[in-house]
Amino acid sequence: MKKTARLFLLLLLSVSANAQTDKEVFIDSLLSKMTVDEKIGQLTLMSSYDFISAEKVNTKNENLKYIEEGRLGAMYGLKDIDRMRKLQGMALKTRLKIPFFFGMDVIHGLETSYPIPLAMSCSWNPDLVRDYARHAASEAKALGINWVFSPMVDISHDARWGRVAEGAGEDPYLGGVMARAYVEGYQGDNDFTKDDNVMTCVKHYALYGAAEAGRDYNPVYMDRQSMMNYFMRPYHDACKAGAGSFMTSFNEFEGIPATANKYLLDDILRKQWGFKGFVVTDATAIKELVPHGIGNFEEVTARALKAGVDMDMNSLGYNGTLKQSLAEGRVTMADIDKACRRILEAKWDMGLFENPYRFLNKKNLKKVYTPEMKAHARKVANECTVLLKNDNHLLPLSPDKKIALIGPFANNAKEMQGTWAMSSHSSESVSIYQGVSEAVQTGGGSVTTAVGSWLVADSLQESSLVNGIMGLFDPNYKPIAVHDRSLKDMIEEAVSATKGCDVIVACLGESTTMNGEGASRADISIPEPQQQLLKALHATGKPVVLVLSAGRPLTLSWEDEHIPAIVNTWNLGDQAGYAIADVLFGNVNPSGHLTMSFPRKVGQCPIYYNHKNTGRPHPDNAPYRRFTSCYIDVVNAPLYPFGYGLSYTSFKYGLPTLSNASMNHNEGTTTLTVPVTNTGSREGMTTVQLYIHAQASTSTRPVKELRAFKKISLKPGETQTINFQLTPEDLKYYDHELNYVCEPGTYDIMVGDNSRDVEKVELKVL
Ligand code: NOJ
Repeated sequence: MKKTARLFLLLLLSVSANAQTDKEVFIDSLLSKMTVDEKIGQLTLMSSYDFISAEKVNTKNENLKYIEEGRLGAMYGLKDIDRMRKLQGMALKTRLKIPFFFGMDVIHGLETSYPIPLAMSCSWNPDLVRDYARHAASEAKALGINWVFSPMVDISHDARWGRVAEGAGEDPYLGGVMARAYVEGYQGDNDFTKDDNVMTCVKHYALYGAAEAGRDYNPVYMDRQSMMNYFMRPYHDACKAGAGSFMTSFNEFEGIPATANKYLLDDILRKQWGFKGFVVTDATAIKELVPHGIGNFEEVTARALKAGVDMDMNSLGYNGTLKQSLAEGRVTMADIDKACRRILEAKWDMGLFENPYRFLNKKNLKKVYTPEMKAHARKVANECTVLLKNDNHLLPLSPDKKIALIGPFANNAKEMQGTWAMSSHSSESVSIYQGVSEAVQTGGGSVTTAVGSWLVADSLQESSLVNGIMGLFDPNYKPIAVHDRSLKDMIEEAVSATKGCDVIVACLGESTTMNGEGASRADISIPEPQQQLLKALHATGKPVVLVLSAGRPLTLSWEDEHIPAIVNTWNLGDQAGYAIADVLFGNVNPSGHLTMSFPRKVGQCPIYYNHKNTGRPHPDNAPYRRFTSCYIDVVNAPLYPFGYGLSYTSFKYGLPTLSNASMNHNEGTTTLTVPVTNTGSREGMTTVQLYIHAQASTSTRPVKELRAFKKISLKPGETQTINFQLTPEDLKYYDHELNYVCEPGTYDIMVGDNSRDVEKVELKVL
């Protein structure tokens, strides 16, 4: 803003806009000048697509009236500095000249796409995640974005739910560590007037990942104790880390949708946790309260405000009905003022009253999609791959090999990028084919390739999954396999492409449209035509490496039995092809560990390592026995447990010891020590995981609970002694009355490199 304009604004509001203490004075003064419509307008968030269907902002569009009348608070989904400047200019032409802030779904990067969050969680490296978020924040800010709809911290036990791709898996402790890392990384020192800091929006509050049967948007049925012990920690940790805003979830809890749930929003988030920022709904969530069945549009809108929702995303419920509700006494002026104040506070914190164009400046575009960003995305991707199986050291491959690179994902860079990668540079990013071809050039090897299979069996589903959705966001998108040839021909062509090769690398899995929002699956195997291809490749007798692309755990029982090497790459983003080649050829030793259990059959879902015992427990791998808690047709154990992941080297964990075998339940400390040795011939990283189990407590508790971990790097032959200091805090849980307590008793303290294979010591808590 020009100096004169600024002076005018300050004069108008009769305050100065500098120090922290000025904030309240400024906002009080501004509020006192606002009409009801203007206040409600600040509570309204719309997507830029609501205004800009054509190329120009000024195209007459009926929604523009909200901007012109000063009845819009913020906008999301736009990254075009020119248009954003125009829109900001329109906001500054309104009576009180209150600027917009701009939000965006920055889930795993923006123009530079990083691995999907589920993949990043498998790094078990919060520093890496924090560093990702710093980079993504700087790129977003350079594009004019002040507010990111991230992190998504929903815990889920159910791989059928498509949105597991966006989170950090099944464990509340690890989820909490990652939630903090994201918030700290995006927000930096919390000074949002700075170039590289963006405000976070923690989502989806709360319990969205517990949707019944893994079907998106489904109700959640859960008791409060389970909610606190299994699901709330990441939201709470994100709040403690200083997250600026929260987004409500679509699901209901205790019969009340989260967007109207006062217990979640007011009692827990604000009163218990002391959250001071603002709460926005998920897109159209107020409107959706009507089909949820809790009232008409006006009633549900008033309920959302009363419950603690400050900003309405895309429903136009606040703009449409709140004034009427005020007149009818459903809401009070104080309710509206409270919410409006929170939005204005965010704007103040972003420095927008001082300079509304602050971040709408093309000079920073040079920070976007740079070689440094790409190199960083590759570095992050290198810690996310999980090696699931590697018989007889089939991997790493030598670059002098003749490789047959087969499958729908072998040569498709866009498909590497994962859900929410709408802004990524698909035409420039790196396919597996490119990564592998460049790698073999250094060693004299060669690559042949073929698509080999349809994506899925149903051609209609295939075209809607691949072309319908991807084509929508990216007109240049080149579809992967489509049903324009017979599967038989495709498989034959693929098999003939393997002639003369030394090793087959099969690139299979699910397309990025098969996970993410609204993409629940009832069958989570590799789609059937791709399985046919894999079986044909296996039948050639050549060694097969399976490289999986997916946004969720898949069921891999046949594959585990027959295929000697399996590499789970998830969706690694822009540099996926290089990152995958780095692992295949051993330039990078894989170090990822699973953060979700891989079921053997979908019928085991929900499946999670930190389940409870029953009164009739059944050992994980024991055969069927009637009247114990098990299945007739599958063992209880997952195929690959939480925390699992192989390396090209091997590690030996010694027996753990405790410095004190007992401690008091409200003070004191003990240190667990465990020696870890690299017994192989390569340098590698392992993640030392510490789990606890209360042998007896006043309420039932899980068989194992992760409470600490350390990722370490060891040279061949090197031993490191790892220490974990434990205090009563590490043993706490929410008891039946929801008190967070450490109860006296005997605890097993367990250590290992996955949740299944652990050594334990006993700790007495007095
Ligand atoms: C709906 C999704 O649930 C949420 O994650 C996202 O941030 C909003 N849409 C806005 O795009």
